Amino acid sequence: MQSTSDLLGPTHVAIIMDGNGRWATTRGLPRIIGHRRGVEAVRRTVKAAPGLGIRVLTLFAFSADNWKRPGAEVSALMQLFGVFLVSERERLVRAGVRLSLIGRRDRLPGSVRAAATAAEHATASGVDMHVRLAIDYSARDAIVSAAAHGVEATRAGFTRRLGAAYGEAGEAPDVDLLIRTGGERRLSDFLLWESAYAELLFVPQLWPDFGIADLTRAVHDFRRRERRFGTLGPASRPLRVVTR
Ligand code: FPP
Repeated sequence: MQSTSDLLGPTHVAIIMDGNGRWATTRGLPRIIGHRRGVEAVRRTVKAAPGLGIRVLTLFAFSADNWKRPGAEVSALMQLFGVFLVSERERLVRAGVRLSLIGRRDRLPGSVRAAATAAEHATASGVDMHVRLAIDYSARDAIVSAAAHGVEATRAGFTRRLGAAYGEAGEAPDVDLLIRTGGERRLSDFLLWESAYAELLFVPQLWPDFGIADLTRAVHDFRRRERRFGTLGPASRPLRVVTR
């Protein structure tokens, strides 16, 4: 699914929210404080995004590889997710935001699973924006899981199956703009299929410092880019000579 609204801005923005740990440790604080400040950045991003024309926002909150972190950090993150899913529910409903989880659910604590299901049900009719929280997510696993469900001969069919692979109804939408905060320049197993033609933006700000001005700048940066999708693009079209 290719975006047709590039002139207006990115329809689907995906964010790798990196830098919480460094934000905290450079201040001599425990890493979890950085994650807590990260939640505030999530709140302001979700609030500002619809006003910038963003219709789908996918946030990488916890990768399948993040289970390898120390148990205390993992538990603290799971607790933050659970609290967020409960405390934001009504706010999201009022804002017309639909929330869903992408990723494996079977390894999550029961309380997080339940909070996610409740938030998904409560926000199901939200039409202003779709927030997809990627928790216990691995793009490679999603692709393997979709492929394991039988041979699919078309890209569209496979894309639909990929959406379904992690519990989403319908297609996994193509990413228009993928932002990674925290200065690293890698994709870390995030939305690999859906980002085939995504514009990539790596910004130095640590996630807790990422504000509305940064998101606005990112959207403006996107608008200035020429997306060609393998074609030669409008700039290379031959001039039409008008004869009377
Ligand atoms: C990466 O930073 C961040 C994470 C692994 C966790 C992301 C979590 C949040 C933004 C907060 C909770 C989110 C929700 C949706 C409630 P890092 O810890 O790898 O930072 P570092 O690279 O500086 O160590």
